[in-house]
Formats: sequence, structure tokens, C-alpha cells
Amino acid sequence: MNKFTTTSFIKSKKEGKKISMLTAYDYSTAKLLDEAGLDSILVGDSLGMVILGYEKTLQVTVDDMIHHTKAVTRGVKRACVIADMPFLSYHISVEETIRNAGRMIQEANAHAVKLEGGREVVDKIEALIKAQIPVMGHLGLTPQSVNMMGGFKVQGKDESQAKIILEDAKLLQEAGVFSIVLECVPAKLAKLISESIDIPTIGIGAGKDCDGQVLVIQDMLGMYSDFTPKFVKKYCEVGLVIKEAVSKYKEEIQEGLFPEEVHTFKIKEEVLEKLY
Ligand code: KIV
Repeated sequence: MNKFTTTSFIKSKKEGKKISMLTAYDYSTAKLLDEAGLDSILVGDSLGMVILGYEKTLQVTVDDMIHHTKAVTRGVKRACVIADMPFLSYHISVEETIRNAGRMIQEANAHAVKLEGGREVVDKIEALIKAQIPVMGHLGLTPQSVNMMGGFKVQGKDESQAKIILEDAKLLQEAGVFSIVLECVPAKLAKLISESIDIPTIGIGAGKDCDGQVLVIQDMLGMYSDFTPKFVKKYCEVGLVIKEAVSKYKEEIQEGLFPEEVHTFKIKEEVLEKLY
């Protein structure tokens, strides 16, 4: 099977093939997604909420991202692995941005990084690309700006906001990103943006006309119950399956039904006799 690379993103758009992406944060999940043939895995800073239990993504550090990205890349053979740049890892200076993104590639084996924002981060994106680090953009609802946005809200509903997002998509394309995540924007705006640029858009809460889709794995598997956004489709209820399995396990321990003979190791009688 051919590897899905950052250049496959643009090729897929040209060929009219939709791109599939999910988040993952650990080795065994990443291996399953890769074996299922998923095109791309995002080690999102959403791990702050769904793995580490924070209320927002703002507490996630570069070291957290590297730790989880390393686990994911060990499990992946084909998919393109993109590591999120966490809050403040690309805001201070171009030099710090390159150093932090460089660690995602050099230490954690990611194929690319993603960072949030439009015109205000173009200088960082250009510097990363000059340093040979492929970049994915992220526009619309950018959760690292939650305090500026006044909450997790749909973006681009009015003319001035919509204009800014459309212009930013073009600026990011000019800066050299290979793809852009569009999060929580009206479907018709996402369609217009997707038609206005040559690089693929990956939607999350942005309708079916994006060039690809991404969801947080815990959401689509029904494993995260703190909050479920409107755009999430639950493909199964793994949370319920886990709870059922765990209560059966507890019951069987209490009733002496687990472990059974097949789960135990033997010792020769003559060895045992010597111990008495
Ligand atoms: O952190 C994340 O998981 C993301 C996706 C929601 C796109 O940025």
C-alpha cells in the first residue's frame, strides 16, 4: 500500500478523492486506524481534553505533544501523521516556532505540523516551510483562541468574519500550507473556500463540501461524554461496551468465575511438594 504523504493531500484534491482523517494519541489506536486504511492521523492538542481531562486545550505543552506523537508514529506505517503545535509554541518568535516544530519532526517522527490562525501566523508558516517542515493550517473555530472568541462558537456567520476567513485561507495557501482544517464554519462558506483554493480543506463541523473530514476519535467512537458537539457523528458506542465489559469483569471476580483454568499457569506436583 502506498504511503499517504503531505503531497498526497493535494493530489487527492486534484483527483477528486476525499481525504479521511481522525485524531489519535496512542500506539494501539494509531495502529488500528492505519490498518483500517485511514489517510491521515492528527495528534491533536484535543488530547488535553479527551486524554488529559483539561477543560480546554490551552494547558497542553510541547512535551505532551511529543510524548503522544512518538506513541502514534510507532504504530503507523502508511498514514500521514500530523502533530498539533500547542498554545504558545509558535506565538513568541520565529526561532522558537522552528525549534518546537523541529522537535515534532526530529524527536517524534511526525510528517508535518498543524497550527491555528490566519494572517497573524503567516511569518511563522513561511519560516517553517523554509526549514522543510510541512504545515497544515487551521481556520474558523480555533480552540486555542477560545478566550478571545468568547467560547466555542461557530465562526464566519457574518460578512466581515466570513471575508476574513476566506482571505486567510488564500494567504495560508500563498504561504505554502499543504492543507487547511476548517472548524465550525457554515457549510456554504466552507464550500466557497474549498472552491477558491487549490489545496484541500479538511472539515470538522464545516459540511460535506470540504475536500476531507476529520473528527476526534473519542467523539466518533462514543468514548467522551463531557461534551458532544453538533457536528459529531457517533459511529459506535465504545464507552458503553467498555462499561459493560468492566462490570462483567468485576462480577466474575466476585463470583470466582475469573480467572478460569485456561488463564492460569501450572507447576509440577513434585516441585510443589518440596515447598511444603
Ligand atoms: O486538536 C484537534 O483535535 C484538532 C481537530 C479538532 C481538528 O485540532
